[in-house]
Formats: sequence, C-alpha cells, structure tokens
Amino acid sequence: MNFVFPRNTQNMALVSQFFLYFLILLLLLVLTIAQTNSNITLGSSLTASNDNSGSSWVSPSGEFAFGFWQIGDQGFLLAIWFDKIPEKTIVWSANRDELVQRGSKVELTADGPLVLRDATGRQIWNIAPGGEVAYGAMLDTGNFVLAGRDSVNLWGSFDMPTYTILPTQMMNQGTKLIGRISSSNYSSGRFMFTLQTNGNLLLYTTKYPTLEVNYAYWPTQSSIGSGFQVIFNQLTGYIYLIARNGSILNEVFSIKASNSTEDFYQRAIVDYDGVFRQYVYPKRNSSAGKWSMGWSTLSFIPSNICLTTEGVTGSGACGFNSYCSFEDDRKNCQCPHGYTFIDPEDVMKGCKQNFVPQSCDKASEEMNLFEFREMINTDWPLSDYEDYKAQSEDWCR
Ligand SMILES: *[C@@H]1O[C@H](CO)[C@@H](O)[C@H](O)[C@H]1NC(C)=O
Ligand SMILES: *[C@@H]1O[C@H](CO)[C@@H](O)[C@H](O)[C@H]1NC(C)=O
Ligand SMILES: *[C@@H]1O[C@H](CO)[C@@H](O)[C@H](O)[C@H]1NC(C)=O
Ligand SMILES: *[C@@H]1O[C@H](CO)[C@@H](O)[C@H](O)[C@H]1NC(C)=O
Repeated sequence: MNFVFPRNTQNMALVSQFFLYFLILLLLLVLTIAQTNSNITLGSSLTASNDNSGSSWVSPSGEFAFGFWQIGDQGFLLAIWFDKIPEKTIVWSANRDELVQRGSKVELTADGPLVLRDATGRQIWNIAPGGEVAYGAMLDTGNFVLAGRDSVNLWGSFDMPTYTILPTQMMNQGTKLIGRISSSNYSSGRFMFTLQTNGNLLLYTTKYPTLEVNYAYWPTQSSIGSGFQVIFNQLTGYIYLIARNGSILNEVFSIKASNSTEDFYQRAIVDYDGVFRQYVYPKRNSSAGKWSMGWSTLSFIPSNICLTTEGVTGSGACGFNSYCSFEDDRKNCQCPHGYTFIDPEDVMKGCKQNFVPQSCDKASEEMNLFEFREMINTDWPLSDYEDYKAQSEDWCR
C-alpha cells in the first residue's frame, strides 16, 4: 500500500489552510441557506445585479422566490416566480410598467414599509401596510407577506395580483388581473379579468394603453351578479365565484388534474392573447401521467375568443387589418395576403399594407391591379362595405 504524506511542514500548513477555507465556505453556505429559509428581518435588502447573485428571497420549500428578475437588457422586474422548475415562471410583479436598472434596491425598511428604489435612489414603488411590521416572508404558497408581531399578515402580494392567481389565493371585489402585452413583455396589456364591486365577474378588452374597460367578452350570456370572492381551491384546484353567504355562484374552472395541487404546480392567468387559462405542471415525473414535464393548459375561457370579442370599438381579439383563428386552445392572429405585421413581437398591433393603396374612382390601368381572393369561413364583422343579397360573385367583381 502507498500512502501519500505531505513532504514538508509547508505543505501541511497549506493543507490545513485549505481545510479552513473549506470550513468557512461550508459555514457560509449553511448561513446562506438558513438566511433564505427564514423570516426576512427589518432592514434587509436585495440589489438588482446582472449575475443574479443574492438577488432573491426563497420560500422554505424553495418553490417560490421574491426578488429581481432580469428582462433582457431592458432592466429588472421586482417579481415573484416559480423557482424550482426549469422554466422559472413569473407570478407577480411590483413594477411591470416601469422596469428598474442594475443597482436598484428593494428594502424592508427598519420602520416597516417595503420600498423599491432605482439606482439613483428614486422611489419606484412601496407598500406601507397599516400596523407595525415585524418581518417579511416568502411563503410556500407564493404569497410574499409583511407580518405583524402576532404573525398576522398585514399585507400580501396575493392582495394585489398582476395577471396570475395561485392556489389558496382569493380575489375580492374590485380586484383586476391584467394580461401582459406579449410572451416576453410583462407590461400591462389589453385584456382584463375582474370581479367588479357590483359582483359581476367578467373578462374585458381594455382601451389599451389605458386600463379603462372596453368590451366584456366573457361570460357570453348575461353576467352573474352578487359575486363576493373568487376562490382558487388548494385541494381541488377548482376556481369558483362565491356569494357573500358562501354559496357557489359559478364554477370558472372545475377540471381536476388527478391528485391536483399535491402533485401539480398550478396557476391561472390572463394570457396575453386574452384567454383566461389554468395551467398545471407535474411536480414529479413519476406522477405526471399524461402530462408532459412543462406547463399544460387544464381549462380555459372563453371557448373561442375569436368569436366573442366583437366590440363596436377597438380591434377585437387580434389587431386591425388582421384576422383571428383559434385551434388547440391557442389564438392565432394572421395578416391577410398583401399585409404584414406592424410589430412581429406584438401581433396585436395589427397588420399594415404592403402595397400602394389603389383607387377605384377612375377607369385606369390601376383597375387591373385589383384581384379577388377567397378566404373560406372568414369574416370581418361590423366592417362590411355593403351587404348585397342574391348577387353573384361575378356581379360583385
Ligand atoms: C418567523 O417569525 C415568526 C414570529 O416571530 C415565527 O413565529 C416564525 O416561526 C418565524 N418563521 C421562521 C421560518 O423563522
Ligand atoms: C413593453 O411594451 C411597452 C409598450 O409597447 C414598451 O413601452 C416597453 O418598452 C416594452 N418593454 C420591453 C421590456 O420590451
Ligand atoms: C346565497 O346567496 C345567493 C346570492 O345572493 C342566493 O341566490 C342564495 O339563495 C343564498 N343561499 C343561501 C343558502 O342563503
Ligand atoms: C424522470 O426524470 C428523470 C430526470 O430528469 C429522467 O432521467 C427520467 O427519464 C424521467 N422519467 C420519465 C418517465 O420521464
């Protein structure tokens, strides 16, 4: 047998020094883990940095994180996201319409309020709950809370949702979920899910870029009044509207993903295409069953958004000069022949002509430039030039 001994004392010193470094590293690691898993004490802060180091507070299970989320080179969101899955997914944001830059800081201040400041120290966002804050905590439900000395939650991110609700979350009257602009842009977009103060639960198009409501496209029949709260049930994963007396008025989503929240991450969002969807993600591939290891749609409303957003004003489900199709629960906006998207990153901006506008006012060779294209099962409702009955296609030409 061969043993390797340090050849001299200098080596020995080196070895023990390494050992010491190792111990310190281990200690630091343990400390970091302990820190991420416990209450956030007053005076704690996070700073937005490009390498994302130390820029989040994680829930005890590690499933959710609160902190800075980088959006390309545009800046940072102060956000909460699913942290344990490869496709880290945002569920909440404080500053969706005003990204902050590197060096920005969120602080749970010594006297209680949670404050977001940009790199110059300007206050971007803050929460100052009534009552004396004792600590903050990123909970395993996905709710980031500010709690009092008696551990009663004084404020929670669940109280001001962005476009997502999670199991255990409730929506009270007056709460709005506003879809994002596109898959990559988290700013407030064009669709809203709201429980109004009059008790109606509705999906609206908005008068973008304002948040003023335009046209309700769900429910398609008359809306249901006397709604008091929207509940996202933790055990079943059902989402329903209850009256003040607790009776269920409307089941928004009531399809179960086998063992539901025990085996699946769940979320319901107003998607950027205006569809309100419930998504599931298996927590373990052993219990995934028919579901792939990623977000899949469990249910959605309305059943065909292309057919329900025919407002008198606004562009409907897709942008102006475009048309909408709905297949496999996905909305697809397209441009007719001769048109292209104004902004391929945001197709809802509509389509523009690729040709010089023609004129019909005099007989000229321009007339020869017109052509007819047949589009089966396609309609541009409310924008007909004229409506002729019993005329042939040739007559029309
Ligand atoms: C957070 O603080 C509260 C109140 O002091 C305490 O009850 C709770 O156990 C703490 N939680 C953790 C994870 O330290
Ligand atoms: C998102 O869209 C808004 C509105 O068009 C725009 O002002 C903003 O810069 C976009 N943000 C990103 C990160 O692209
Ligand atoms: C609960 O309230 C709803 C709506 O206000 C009403 O229709 C229903 O009859 C009530 N149920 C009970 C048990 O009081
Ligand atoms: C489950 O996940 C592991 C690790 O990602 C992978 O190796 C395995 O093939 C997966 N099993 C199934 C049935 O997908």
